[in-house]
Amino acid sequence: MNDSIRVPWFELPNAPATGTRLCALDDVPEVGVKMLVIEAESDKEGDARQAPFRLVILRSASGIKAYVNRCAHFGVPLSEKPEHLIFTPEVSISCNVHYARYRWSDGHCLEGECKGEALIAVPVAIDAAGQIIVAA
Ligand code: FES
Repeated sequence: MNDSIRVPWFELPNAPATGTRLCALDDVPEVGVKMLVIEAESDKEGDARQAPFRLVILRSASGIKAYVNRCAHFGVPLSEKPEHLIFTPEVSISCNVHYARYRWSDGHCLEGECKGEALIAVPVAIDAAGQIIVAA
């Protein structure tokens, strides 16, 4: 396990504030995932002083979930691109580095080098305009 990743999501660099609009619900496949990378304004211009905040949003019939896109094993992204993320809707998502498998519903690691650890959940909600926002 990488102890440096056991921090609350809101203390990570470039974490979005409560109420931030992340994307439209329609931008996430009805059953699938969307990844977001949030960088500081200065970082967008090539001055990468802080790691971006990486988020993976999961959508299925049971609703939406969001986790920091950061494996509990080495602290690297589960996948860089959504098309490379291994997942079974409503069941699990997996890291594509060493294949740790996490429960879809709560991010708990079911098997792998970080079994018993968890992804860092980010609270999200859907506002009246159909936007996914960071919830309190
Ligand atoms: S970095 Fe994800 S399982 Fe090893």
